[in-house]
Amino acid sequence: MAELSFQKCIHPHCGGTAAADDTAFACPKCGGLLDVAYDWDRLPVPKSLKHFESKWANRTDPLDFSGVWRFRELLPFAPADKIVTIGEGQTLCQRADPVAAYCGLNPGRLYLQYEGMNPSGSFKDNGMSAAFTHARMTGATRAACASTGNTSASLALYCAALPGMRGVIFIGSGKISYGKLSQALEHGALTIQIHGDFDDALRRVREVSKKLGIYLVNSVNPFRLEGQKTIMFRVLEALRWEVPDWIVVPGGNLGNVSSFAKAFHELHALGLIPRKPRLAVINAAGADTFYQLYEKQGVRWLDGRFDQTPVDAYYAGLDAGARKADTLASAIEINRPVNLPKAFRAMHCCDGVVRAMPDAEILDAKARIGAGGLGCEPASGASVAGLRQLVREGVIGRDDRVVCILTGHVLKDSDETVAYHSADPATFDAKLGKRGVKAVAFANRAVPVPNDLDAIVKAIEANR
Ligand code: F0G
Repeated sequence: MAELSFQKCIHPHCGGTAAADDTAFACPKCGGLLDVAYDWDRLPVPKSLKHFESKWANRTDPLDFSGVWRFRELLPFAPADKIVTIGEGQTLCQRADPVAAYCGLNPGRLYLQYEGMNPSGSFKDNGMSAAFTHARMTGATRAACASTGNTSASLALYCAALPGMRGVIFIGSGKISYGKLSQALEHGALTIQIHGDFDDALRRVREVSKKLGIYLVNSVNPFRLEGQKTIMFRVLEALRWEVPDWIVVPGGNLGNVSSFAKAFHELHALGLIPRKPRLAVINAAGADTFYQLYEKQGVRWLDGRFDQTPVDAYYAGLDAGARKADTLASAIEINRPVNLPKAFRAMHCCDGVVRAMPDAEILDAKARIGAGGLGCEPASGASVAGLRQLVREGVIGRDDRVVCILTGHVLKDSDETVAYHSADPATFDAKLGKRGVKAVAFANRAVPVPNDLDAIVKAIEANR
């Protein structure tokens, strides 16, 4: 009997498949990216998304408590006894009127999906829980990733929680935030610092994983992306199963956007939603490969036969000019997104748009989000900066219902946040000025006061 789940090449004309337990994460026929595919006709699919509400009453079962696995019928690749969960996905989708006003949306139209609430502080835990479940099914004892911080923190945490699994992390020199490095070290992962940036580290970890048979958890791993689908399920859940008009998400390796589109494609095909939302992907201006190729050069999915020539030429241009990704939004400082083909497909599936935003606007947006009560890292601020741009352009209407994904917690890249708010020009310059940020709009400066009671009282009263 054919398997209920397997891996399938994303290129329809290739038709390559791999078994569910294959860990090469490349199509055996063409070398392309793989999807996790299901024989839905033989699987028990709920008739309505309301089905998942029955899980809320059952929080003592870790699988129903998990914000990933309570949707397990929609990522049915694992038997219940193999599932790895540490309580990921207890995240919030919050109405954010002050941020809506900042972006030019009417009240009640913007929601922020706060993935910083995850155990390791980013959305990665959604995917890591699924990848570790698959790793356990395949008997892996070591797991590796390249990371700008969040993937490594998540990997290290899941390794620490799963006896018998050793984590190996590749980071570029000076390219990881201390908060995130501290998590990797604290949770006991082997940390390999290589000379180079994220793109270099990812290339190496793919080679090394293949050579040593180590389980790879970067987002070329399609099982990771299965876990990230649940971010969209929770968005729908928070909106009482109503489909928003837009999902806005930062784009780095383009795993999220690929996984979100897969989620909506499947829900639509299964008759669980009446329509799909549109997707907006926001690059940083200093790492804008997807923007350049999709918006400027017009590369389109074309049922998997997209034109590779401009893609190759673009990468050759990066190499020839020794151009490296450069943005303060460290999580999306990526010039060679591994999920590029899937992201072209996602744009086709959800009528997508891509924008690239300068760091100064990303940091201002982040400060508005923080002042509105949710703390996020710069990469997450990109989604709101991009939304503001799209409203300015009239692409997103003032009354459209929009959800921006806040992918990571404010405690990542905290040096930049302190520099943003600093009154000290040297502190500002060291972190932001020398990276091209000239001025910021929403600094909340610390007030220097002499060590004197009257002066302190006066300063506090003057800032009521
Ligand atoms: N936002 C945050 C907070 C991230 O950590 C990442 C990726 C992205 C957005 C980009 O997501 O790749 O799905 O487009 N971080 C990786 C890491 C690179 O190593 O933690 P994507």
